[in-house]
Amino acid sequence: MKFATELIHGLDPIDAQHGSVSHPIYLSSTFAQRSIDSFGRYDYARSGNPTREALEEAIAGLEKGAVGLAFASGIAATASTLLLFRPGDHLVVCEDVYGGTFRLLTTLFKGWGLEATFVDATDNDAIAAAIRPETRALYLETPSNPLIKITDLSTAVALAKEHGILTIVDNTFMTPYLQRPLELGCDIVVHSGTKFLNGHSDVICGFAVAKDAELGQRLRFIQNAFGAVLGPQDCWLVLRGLKTLKVRMEEHQASARKIVAWLSEQKEVQRVYYPGLPDHPGYDIHNRQASGPGGVLSFELASYDTTKRLLEGVKLAAFAVSLGGVESILSYPAKMSHAAMPPAEREARGIKDTLVRLSVGLEDPDDLIADMARFLNV
Ligand SMILES: Cc1ncc(COP(=O)(O)O)c(C=O)c1O
Repeated sequence: MKFATELIHGLDPIDAQHGSVSHPIYLSSTFAQRSIDSFGRYDYARSGNPTREALEEAIAGLEKGAVGLAFASGIAATASTLLLFRPGDHLVVCEDVYGGTFRLLTTLFKGWGLEATFVDATDNDAIAAAIRPETRALYLETPSNPLIKITDLSTAVALAKEHGILTIVDNTFMTPYLQRPLELGCDIVVHSGTKFLNGHSDVICGFAVAKDAELGQRLRFIQNAFGAVLGPQDCWLVLRGLKTLKVRMEEHQASARKIVAWLSEQKEVQRVYYPGLPDHPGYDIHNRQASGPGGVLSFELASYDTTKRLLEGVKLAAFAVSLGGVESILSYPAKMSHAAMPPAEREARGIKDTLVRLSVGLEDPDDLIADMARFLNV
C-alpha cells in the first residue's frame, strides 16, 4: 500500500464485529477475565487498551517499526525512552534539541546519573569526538528546532553501529510521511504526536517506535512500568487526525514554500531557515533522507522591535508555542520552546532574540503573507 492508502486502510479489520469504519473508544480501565489460568489479551488498561493498541499499530506501521507505543506527551515518550539507559551511561545529543528535552537531560536525568554531551550534529567529526566508552546512544533531531539544521542520518547510523550504540531520532517535524529514520538504520523514533501527527492542536501525546521487536519489548516494559500512557479518547482523536496526515503535510509544505519565497525577499528579514532552500547547508542531505522540506521554518528579523511588532500584531497565525496544527503558529523560541535553556547556552547555539519560528497552517498562504506584510518594512 502507498502511504495515503495505509493511512486510511492500514489497520484491518477495523471492527470485525459491526463493521464500523471508525475505531471504538474503549473507556475501560480493566478487563474481566474468564480463566484463572490464562488471562485474556487485555487485563488492565495501563498495560494495554484496544483503542491505544490500534493507534500504536498505526504509528509502528507508518514508521516501519516493529513496535509503536503511545504516551501521554512527546516528552513522556522521550523520558520513557531514556529509561532504557542506566546511571553512568552517556548520550551524544544534537545541540539545538527541543528545549524540553534539553531540560529533561540536564536536570532530571543528569541528577539520576545519565550524562549528555551536546554537539553540533551537522558535524560528523564532532559527533565522533563526543563518543566515549560509556556512550550508549546518539539522540538526534533533523530538521532541528528552531534552527532547522540537518543531520546526516545515514552517516550518524554508521558511526553509531561502529561503536555498538543506538541511534534515536525525534521525527516530530517531518512525520513518517516525509522521513522514516528507521528505514535509514536508526533504532528508535520518538515523536511529539501533539504536532503534525494529531494535527489539530487539541491533544498532547507522544510516541516511541522501535525498529526491532526486542528493543520494542524493552520499551513496552518501560511504558507499563513507568505508566505515562495515552488515554483512549486522545488515542481516538489522533487516529482521526492521522487519516489526513498526507493531505495536511502536502498543503503545509506547499504554503511554506510560498511563504519562504516571500520572506526571502523582505528587507527586514535577515535570514530564513528552511531545508527547501537550495542554499541551506543541509539541502542535499535533507533531500537524500526526506521527501520534502515540511511545514516549519524559522527566520531572523533585523531588530527586536520588528520581532515584537510581528509577534504581537499578526492575526492569522496564533502567537503561541507548538506547531503542526491546522492553524498557523508563530513562536518565539527564546521565550517559548527554548525558555528552559539558559540565555548563554541559547545565544551560543544561535537562537537569537530576533528569531521567529513559523508553523505554516492550512490557511491560504496569500492571506498569511498579507497579514505578516503589515508588520514588516513599515
Ligand atoms: C521536536 C519536539 N520534540 C518533543 C517535543 C515535546 O512534545 P510534547 O510537548 O508533546 O510533550 C516537542 C514539543 O514542542 C517538540 O517540538
